[in-house]
Amino acid sequence: MGRGTITGAIWINIGALLYFCGACTALLSFSVPEEVDKGTVVGNLAKHLQVAVSELERRDLRIVSGSFKKYFDLDLKAGTLYVCDRIDREELCPNSEKCFLNIEAMLSNPLHLHRIEVQITDINDNAPYFLEKEINLNISESSSPGERYLLPMANDADSGNNGVKSYKLSSNEYFLLDIQSGGQHSESAELVLQKSLDREKNAASHLTLVAFDGGKPAKTGTLKITVHIMDTNDNAPVFSQSLYKVKVLENTPLQTSILTVSAEDSDEGINSEILYSFIRRGNINPDALFSINPDTGEITVIGQIDYEETAAYDIRLQARDKGSPSRSVHGKMLVEVIDINDNIPEVVVTSLMSPVKEDAKTGTVVALVTVTDKDGGKNGITSAQVIGSVPFKLKLNYKNYYSLTVDGPLDRESVSHYNVTIYAIDEGNPPLSSTNVIPVHISDVNDNAPNFSDSVVNVYVKENSAVGTNIGIIMAQDPDEAENAKIMYSLLGNFSKNIPISSVLNINSQTGEIICLESFNYEELKTFQFKVQANDSGVPQQSSNVTVNVLILDENDNNPTILAPYSEHGSVNSETIPYSAEAGYFVAKIRAVDADSGYNALLSYHL
Ligand SMILES: *[C@@H]1O[C@H](CO)[C@@H](O)[C@H](O)[C@H]1NC(C)=O
Ligand SMILES: *[C@@H]1O[C@H](CO)[C@@H](O)[C@H](O)[C@H]1NC(C)=O
Ligand SMILES: *[C@@H]1O[C@H](CO)[C@@H](O)[C@H](O)[C@H]1NC(C)=O
Ligand SMILES: *[C@@H]1O[C@H](CO)[C@@H](O)[C@H](O)[C@H]1NC(C)=O
Ligand SMILES: *[C@@H]1O[C@H](CO)[C@@H](O)[C@H](O)[C@H]1NC(C)=O
Ligand SMILES: *[C@@H]1O[C@H](CO)[C@@H](O)[C@H](O)[C@H]1NC(C)=O
Repeated sequence: MGRGTITGAIWINIGALLYFCGACTALLSFSVPEEVDKGTVVGNLAKHLQVAVSELERRDLRIVSGSFKKYFDLDLKAGTLYVCDRIDREELCPNSEKCFLNIEAMLSNPLHLHRIEVQITDINDNAPYFLEKEINLNISESSSPGERYLLPMANDADSGNNGVKSYKLSSNEYFLLDIQSGGQHSESAELVLQKSLDREKNAASHLTLVAFDGGKPAKTGTLKITVHIMDTNDNAPVFSQSLYKVKVLENTPLQTSILTVSAEDSDEGINSEILYSFIRRGNINPDALFSINPDTGEITVIGQIDYEETAAYDIRLQARDKGSPSRSVHGKMLVEVIDINDNIPEVVVTSLMSPVKEDAKTGTVVALVTVTDKDGGKNGITSAQVIGSVPFKLKLNYKNYYSLTVDGPLDRESVSHYNVTIYAIDEGNPPLSSTNVIPVHISDVNDNAPNFSDSVVNVYVKENSAVGTNIGIIMAQDPDEAENAKIMYSLLGNFSKNIPISSVLNINSQTGEIICLESFNYEELKTFQFKVQANDSGVPQQSSNVTVNVLILDENDNNPTILAPYSEHGSVNSETIPYSAEAGYFVAKIRAVDADSGYNALLSYHL
């Protein structure tokens, strides 16, 4: 016990001695601390038995231990009782407050028995200890301050003051130690939660509980306490970005991955496992075009991305944890569609004024043309022009509205129909182009007079031809068409003074056939002239004329006539010829004439 010294300290309990004296021959009480060295004297038996040391041998002093092991022996020379083996109080008297060893001392000659009671006093040779070196506690992070958790108690084999006296908990933020003391064996130790827990800040607390005994110096025992904070689903997932922006080419192939979104949840386990999804809002259903992998957040294209249909998508995302109840968060994703030059410019003729009169002036509008391109930006900016050499051009009215106008002289007689090719091209890279052919018909204007192939025409007619003889055809051409080319012929001029030509000749107004209404006598009239006028039927009318020379051909319709002096018809003239006339004598000259001409008038004479 605390007051005893370890060696050589012998304390006789006089009171006990006196008390026990009446019941037995003698009762000696000694006290010795446990664990003293061998040889430590417990008490002077000789003195207490009142036997001289020199007598001890003769009296044959012995000690008799009971059933237990022999701890003590006698030194007969000194008359003392000493410790001869290690004494462990805790082994001898486990769990008891007091510990006594009873032995008997026996003296012979005469015989005396003495009971000796040796109290084994406690020394602080045992430290407090916990049955387990460490314990684990699972505490929910939703626990409220004030909640209590029972802790194991320490044991100490020593007794009394050397037993467990106090506990101390390592200093920490969250827990206090509360020892409820209801006497030696009804003590309890509890951890008391002091403030709210947050697993996300501090997932575990490592505490140490130290038990102290009352010895001096005190011995200690330590228990390691690991407090695991069990997660509750108190955190919602958080997206890594408040807004995800991504650009996607239109016509992106299906299954192309465009973005991976991610959210973090600071909880643990399934409370932090996240499922991703799209949120359907109004009539916007992102699932038609995009697919989000619920586990990875990877977003892929699953539909036709058409810039012309939608240039940007504003999509809402959701990240939901698998806790119960689960928590979720909303995110935003903006998908900007990048236009691809996938639409060709279209040339649309909104109004076509065809046919166009051939006398249309430069600048006359022939058609209204619109060029459209569904693409956006540069891909949708177009320009257009007329290609090929045609007398037309495109004039920009505004934006992409054009007029096709006349840009040069038109002549139906040369070109009556144009295929005007309009070429439109956009500014994409590569550019797309298209052409559209506008058929333009040129309508006739009576801009050509009938045309005779020659300015003067000679026709020949035999004299004495019968009335009604066709003496020729006078024809003109008119390159115009239809009425503008329909020619009427008429005669112009006088046959002779005051006799109109129409009383001598007739012309078929349709065919230009000329028929004579008289027969002609070459010997009277060799030639005459008139004009044929050709009028077309256009408005205004155009006309032209041609001079026709009629040449009358001689027929041999006249006999030669011999002229006077032998001219009197049927009479015979005589010439006096001298008898002396010799051969070669000139008799007379015979003259004859023929009214015809040419060969018809070439005369030969015969006798
Ligand atoms: C504490 O929780 C863990 C799992 O987190 C479990 O393996 C262990 O058995 C629990 N311990 C107690 C004492 O409930
Ligand atoms: C114009 O196009 C039409 C149809 O393609 C064709 O029949 C016609 O001959 C073309 N005309 C000209 C003057 O090229
Ligand atoms: C009239 O016809 C002639 C011959 O057919 C031709 O040479 C001439 O160019 C034409 N004149 C006009 C004005 O058409
Ligand atoms: C043709 O005859 C008419 C009378 O029939 C006359 O008035 C006119 O002057 C004549 N023309 C010419 C050119 O001689
Ligand atoms: C033909 O044209 C001329 C001149 O334009 C006109 O004087 C004449 O009357 C016309 N003739 C016919 C038959 O129409
Ligand atoms: C005949 O034509 C010429 C020129 O082509 C013209 O000068 C003349 O006036 C015309 N004559 C008539 C009678 O139309």
